[in-house]
Amino acid sequence: MSKKVFIFDTTLRDGEQVPGCKLNTKEKLVLALRLEELGVDILEAGFPVSSPGDFESVNQIAKALKNTVVCGLTRAVQKDIEVAAEALKPAKRFRIHTGIGTSDLHIKYKFNSNKEEIIERAVKAVAMARNFTDDVEFYAEDAGRTDNEYLARVIEAVIKAGATTLNIPDTTGYCLPYQYQAKMEYLVNNVKGIENAILSCHCHNDLGLATANSIAGVMGGARQIECTINGLGERAGNTALEEVVMILNQHKDLGYYTHINPTLLNPISREVSDVMRMQVQPNKAIVGANAFSHSSGIHQDGFLKEAQTYEIINPAEVGAEDSKIVLTARSGRSALAFRLHKLGYEFTRNDIDALYGIFTEVADKMKEVKEADLKIMADNFSKK
Ligand code: KIV
Ligand code: ZN
Repeated sequence: MSKKVFIFDTTLRDGEQVPGCKLNTKEKLVLALRLEELGVDILEAGFPVSSPGDFESVNQIAKALKNTVVCGLTRAVQKDIEVAAEALKPAKRFRIHTGIGTSDLHIKYKFNSNKEEIIERAVKAVAMARNFTDDVEFYAEDAGRTDNEYLARVIEAVIKAGATTLNIPDTTGYCLPYQYQAKMEYLVNNVKGIENAILSCHCHNDLGLATANSIAGVMGGARQIECTINGLGERAGNTALEEVVMILNQHKDLGYYTHINPTLLNPISREVSDVMRMQVQPNKAIVGANAFSHSSGIHQDGFLKEAQTYEIINPAEVGAEDSKIVLTARSGRSALAFRLHKLGYEFTRNDIDALYGIFTEVADKMKEVKEADLKIMADNFSKK
């Protein structure tokens, strides 16, 4: 039987930390409602103690959402936890996400502390959060570079203190997929009480591995992925929600499913891009402008014969516009004939052969042959 993977969206927290992506309360609220419609299970609405504006945003979102668990981030600090609980109070269901750095680097340089003291602080924070809700998630920041034995001790201690979800962030995007998978497996096999808790992936994209690591984490035993629309997040970004959802959708053989409605992926991607004023790179998987464009002759010919030769996803499945046949100097005769036919021209095979010669000369001088150029070419040819 397929197993559910919970989608924890952090577009409004990790995504909003990106310089230039800051949102006001109204903008956050609109996106939160869209994310609920999309089907995310948990929505991290912000970091309430960070500013009065973020407190207000989390509070408004907590009031507005009907089914989604609303989550607020905190450090392992009493004031943060109290303020988050206050902001989240109106929610039907809420989660406090608290945690602390566990790698040697974090312990030494950020906290000037030691391993035992970090465990004490983690346990204290989780116990404190449990006074406000029984849905407490603990993050072991920089878990990607934390040795597995110590990480297991931390996780076991916070589960005992009441944490129900354990976030294992690869904060710096350092891990390779097999290492991240092995980390999850180690925790599954070595932490008492883990069978009653949920392990969560939170992977950054510094080496372009965020998506691969999240999937590897699930294969290692995690049942939650933390991710953002368009992969927004600190530095090189976070795991792209649209990518992990479609990977699990495409590879049903892996045996996992999510509750995301994929037809809303492209519309929400555009909305996030517009409101955060962050363009999506054209070659971005699932939601990029070129994700369903075909421009080389070999691909176009195959695609026009049978779309599945060069497309593993039907664009309608992810709410994207129809596939495009783009004309460039690398395009072939079938693509030229297809585009001319779409414009209403009916040429014979011989005409297309002749037109193709003219087309390649024009195309060599341009990045792309647009509709207007094509019409001029076809009209001039017809007059001959
Ligand atoms: O990347 C990270 O470690 C985080 C935590 C605060 C969860 O964003
Ligand atoms: Zn993060």
